[in-house]
Amino acid sequence: MSNKPIGIFDSGVGGTSIWKELHSLLPYENTIYLADSKNAPYGLKGKYNIIKLSIKNVELLLEKDCKLIVVACNTATTNAIKVLRKNYDIPFIGIEPAIKPAALQTKNKAIGILATKGTLSSDLFHNTAALYSNGITIVEQNGNGIVELIEHGKLDSPEMRSLLKEYLSPMIKANIDYLVLGCTHYPYLMPLLLELLPQSIKIIDSGEAVAKQTKAILAQHNLLNNATAKPKNKFYTNSNPIVMQTLLNENFNAEYLDF
Ligand code: SIN
Repeated sequence: MSNKPIGIFDSGVGGTSIWKELHSLLPYENTIYLADSKNAPYGLKGKYNIIKLSIKNVELLLEKDCKLIVVACNTATTNAIKVLRKNYDIPFIGIEPAIKPAALQTKNKAIGILATKGTLSSDLFHNTAALYSNGITIVEQNGNGIVELIEHGKLDSPEMRSLLKEYLSPMIKANIDYLVLGCTHYPYLMPLLLELLPQSIKIIDSGEAVAKQTKAILAQHNLLNNATAKPKNKFYTNSNPIVMQTLLNENFNAEYLDF
């Protein structure tokens, strides 16, 4: 067993959607969350830069003695996780768009995927999509601009509504019955998506699967924290903490840290 913290990082506040799933499944684990909002969005950066930023975040989490790191960012996972796993001797959990469950469950043989340019253009995404695209239409949509609006706290704003209408329209026309959210920021758009999409379209994200995978890997490495003391959950951002604070429960504090 280990009471060292689980480290989590994202290009910004979106990964808190993953942290919520983790905290609900593993309520006694200590956690440290890094929001690299100063550098958001990662989705528009090249692979080399995404790897460099991911390494910077990992180094800080290792300084803080983390026992496992969740890369709570699809763009960082698809572009950098291989390098991280090769260079560091702790377990890494990544987030991949949930194409598999959508492809296995679609009745219309058409699914949509909303993700960043960095995720959609990655080898990992191409390989996964190729694996499950047999007989299925996958409508890919770059969610350009969405992360920036969420980072500025504009979850339900006229700009967000107009972007989503534009991005969802080709998917609705293609008669998809599953929409895969391929970015950890996007679960925060759930109320708006439910309003804008026909009821017949189901929305899938990866949060719960990631939490289960984290628990399984901790158990496999004998790293679960068996203590039942109140855990420490630290949230750091290198930008204004107000947006992160509004996404967190009032029991948790978002703090500024220069990294
Ligand atoms: C981004 O920084 O562009 C989005 C993060 C993600 O892909 O989950």
